[in-house]
Amino acid sequence: MMARALALAQKGLFTSTPNPRVGCVLAQGESVVGEGWHEKAGGPHAEVVAIDKAGSRAAGATMYVNLEPCSHQGRTPPCVDFIKKNKINRVIAAMLDPNPQAAHGGAQLAAAGIGFEHGLMADEAKELNIGFVSRMTRGRPWVRMKIAATLDGRTALADGRSQWITGAEARKDGHRWRARACAILTGIGTVKADDPRLTVRDVATSRQPLRVVVDSRLEIPEKAKILEGGNTLIFCGVENARKLNAEVVTLPNKNNKVELPRMLEELARRGVNELQVEAGFRLNGSLAREGCVDEFLVYLNPSFLGDEAQGMLALSGISSLEQKIKTRITSLDRIGDDIRILARL
Ligand SMILES: NC(=O)c1ccc[n+]([C@@H]2O[C@H](COP(=O)([O-])OP(=O)(O)OC[C@H]3O[C@@H](n4cnc5c(N)ncnc54)[C@H](OP(=O)(O)O)[C@@H]3O)[C@@H](O)[C@H]2O)c1
Repeated sequence: MMARALALAQKGLFTSTPNPRVGCVLAQGESVVGEGWHEKAGGPHAEVVAIDKAGSRAAGATMYVNLEPCSHQGRTPPCVDFIKKNKINRVIAAMLDPNPQAAHGGAQLAAAGIGFEHGLMADEAKELNIGFVSRMTRGRPWVRMKIAATLDGRTALADGRSQWITGAEARKDGHRWRARACAILTGIGTVKADDPRLTVRDVATSRQPLRVVVDSRLEIPEKAKILEGGNTLIFCGVENARKLNAEVVTLPNKNNKVELPRMLEELARRGVNELQVEAGFRLNGSLAREGCVDEFLVYLNPSFLGDEAQGMLALSGISSLEQKIKTRITSLDRIGDDIRILARL
């Protein structure tokens, strides 16, 4: 039943942001009497959809839900009240709600005499909402850095050309990861070299992620494709009166570049759960050096470009092997002719 609730929650993978992905199953014994999932912020929560589907069969049922039911009045009323009103007998949550505003729903249920347990499939539940958990517990998004490289770790020719390093299937897979991200971040070097749109294409989704550019001196060309259609945020390091089709936030560090950790906090404040980085080796290196990466999503093409081509991360000052940035591989798959590696710090 919990596995089914998680599968339902997965349906909100591309759309529920900034809310968590939540699925719910109501069962009477072995029979499912209602199911639901949360599609988007402002829409009904999974618990409410499941109870509505169950109708009169909700009374006395056991609820399986991947996140503790909420106790707060947000854009919709507290789920806890609806659960009590509909006389659910027992609630089993995979994990407690890390959102301090919505938490303690379980305790409120227990106080009302409704059995409440949590912990069933907790790891899977945390994984599904890794960005939401990160934003609630660390005040920053989960940062996934996507890199397409050759077997010798090269991401572009020395002159900046990089389209395309990997094959069509890997690129489509990259768009699926984009679709689940709340925001996609790139650097001014990539905007100048590639003029990317950074929209989700080739994948069906009703939502486009926010596009974010790190541009210290606000040099972005007015005609850059990333500015088309709005929905773009630029972080820069200097005050500048340029009028652009984007919101500009000045967050300077001591070198008048962008203070990257504060940028992550600002993105979290705006509700960004998962941030996908698609930048060149310079910004990638800065983010890695400043502890602003949680996971690497690397596509490796079985080819070589040699050591004059650009690498993955500009890192200086590594003089001993002890200083290498160590990761742990969490998945390894073949995508078309390429290999996809997910590795976590
Ligand atoms: N294969 C791939 O996966 C992939 C993906 C994207 C891009 N690319 C390739 O990467 C190349 C571009 O690389 P790139 O390194 O020039 O571009 P980039 O990393 O997208 O952007 C570089 C800029 O980031 C800035 N930067 C670094 N740290 C910063 C900080 N803390 N605050 C503000 N700005 C900061 C640098 O600014 P300053 O000049 O002020 O130091 C630099 O100009 C292109 O050829 C593109 O095709 C490849």
